[in-house]
Amino acid sequence: MDERKKVIFSGIQPSGNLTLGNYIGAIKNWVKLQDEYDCLFCVVDLHAITVKQEPKDLRQRTLEVLAIYIASGLEPEKNTLFIQSHVPAHSEGAWLLNCFTYMGELGRMTQFKDKSQKYGESISAGLFTYPVLMAADILMYNADLVPVGKDQKQHVELARDIAARFNNLYSPTFTLPEPYIAPTGAKIMDLQEPTKKMSKSEENANSYILIMDPPEVIRKKISRAVTDSLGVVKYSDEQPGVKNLMNIIISLTGTTPEEIEKKYEGRGYADFKKDTAETIIAELEPVQKRVKELLEDKTYLEQIYKAGAEKANYLSMKILRKMQKKIGFIPVSK
Ligand code: TYM
Repeated sequence: MDERKKVIFSGIQPSGNLTLGNYIGAIKNWVKLQDEYDCLFCVVDLHAITVKQEPKDLRQRTLEVLAIYIASGLEPEKNTLFIQSHVPAHSEGAWLLNCFTYMGELGRMTQFKDKSQKYGESISAGLFTYPVLMAADILMYNADLVPVGKDQKQHVELARDIAARFNNLYSPTFTLPEPYIAPTGAKIMDLQEPTKKMSKSEENANSYILIMDPPEVIRKKISRAVTDSLGVVKYSDEQPGVKNLMNIIISLTGTTPEEIEKKYEGRGYADFKKDTAETIIAELEPVQKRVKELLEDKTYLEQIYKAGAEKANYLSMKILRKMQKKIGFIPVSK
């Protein structure tokens, strides 16, 4: 019988400080999956340079993201934790896959369309081909499932299409990956404009909670979160601000919308907001403490990313070689 556990791959860009959206939409779910699956979690630094990065900040944030993975409960012994640029098969695989991806497909990616509005003509070619690198990340390990927030679903579907195209053109090579989107918290909204996604690239700091925000900052940001003038704590699309805060509580505590509605009946927003802030703080404070400890111990982090790179290199090279052979490249040695 095939004892192979299903493979999971996912990653986060160290392109800004991680938000509560990254925590709830990605990391918190990964932690739940680590026992059941064979998991690879990557800090995708190659993706981060699709927009301008200060080298010093990129270095520091790459390590911080790794520390956040571990501090949030991803056990280095159970998972392969690594840094994308340490594993060349991602870049090489991305080039090969570029040749099996259509411009039209990439032009239809909503994230690209949004970003090109922001950057105009000076948008980098990297931002256009970024989903192909993401496809390489996933396909180089034959991942079955890709746990992501809703905003990344389209990219995972494209990876699947590219994989199917390659398989049809040559012969079965890649597992067709599927997005895995958790039922709650798949899209945590911006605190100031609750109809758009909370994002680490947003300029207004009141729009997001950072994983590393100190408690007093979290309290302030939640107290300023946009709600509405109805004054009723109700899980409704007509109250996107309130619904978003409720979703945060639901994702962090497992409680239900009805329980929250009942608890705050006739009480307005002040207590509800205060409790939301305290729920977030209770979740993030231990993570922050552990991140700080881990960042003090660079040797330990190095040990983890080195071991991760070794394993990831081994696995990804096998698949890359297979691709090269099928395409018709001459192997350097048998
Ligand atoms: P990134 O770095 O933008 O986000 C990392 C993860 O966090 C999720 N996320 C959210 N979830 C809920 N609410 C939010 N407001 C929110 N903001 C972000 C994202 O959906 C994502 O799961 N291209 C990817 C990184 C990547 C990747 C991969 C992911 C590169 N290669 C391979 C999976 C597999 C990205 O930019 O995510």
